[in-house]
Amino acid sequence: MDWDRLLAAAGAVREHAYAPYSHYQVGAAIQMEDGSVFAAANVENCLPALGTCAERNAMAAALSAGHRKPVAVAVMTASSPPAYPCGLCRQTLLEFADGDLKILVANPQGERELRTLAELQPHGFQLKAEHWGVK
Ligand code: THU
Repeated sequence: MDWDRLLAAAGAVREHAYAPYSHYQVGAAIQMEDGSVFAAANVENCLPALGTCAERNAMAAALSAGHRKPVAVAVMTASSPPAYPCGLCRQTLLEFADGDLKILVANPQGERELRTLAELQPHGFQLKAEHWGVK
């Protein structure tokens, strides 16, 4: 895994965060199984519930481009120690990834921590499409 490349993408996109309320900028870059990379930042709103996280925005970009399977995620924030994806983002990643999805959290000072999705979202909710009665 070329973590330097993925972190560079997360750091670059973080510059485009729209975070005028929290002033907390997040950049996320997701590498898909074919090697392609999709990156996005957090996008806030004056109606706070409408704000979206960088990780889910990056996953939506990948899905919208026809990619379904993430293999690695890099998240860049200013936090020390580095901040981990929120619960909503963990559950969203679990929809498309296996527990072995690698998640690297980092900050510009060079601190890095590497975990798997199984470590961050153990026993996450999973439901097969058949349960919805959809054929
Ligand atoms: N945020 C993310 O982008 N990803 C996370 O996993 C946690 C939080 C954003 C949401 C909001 O715009 C700001 O960080 C402060 O919560």
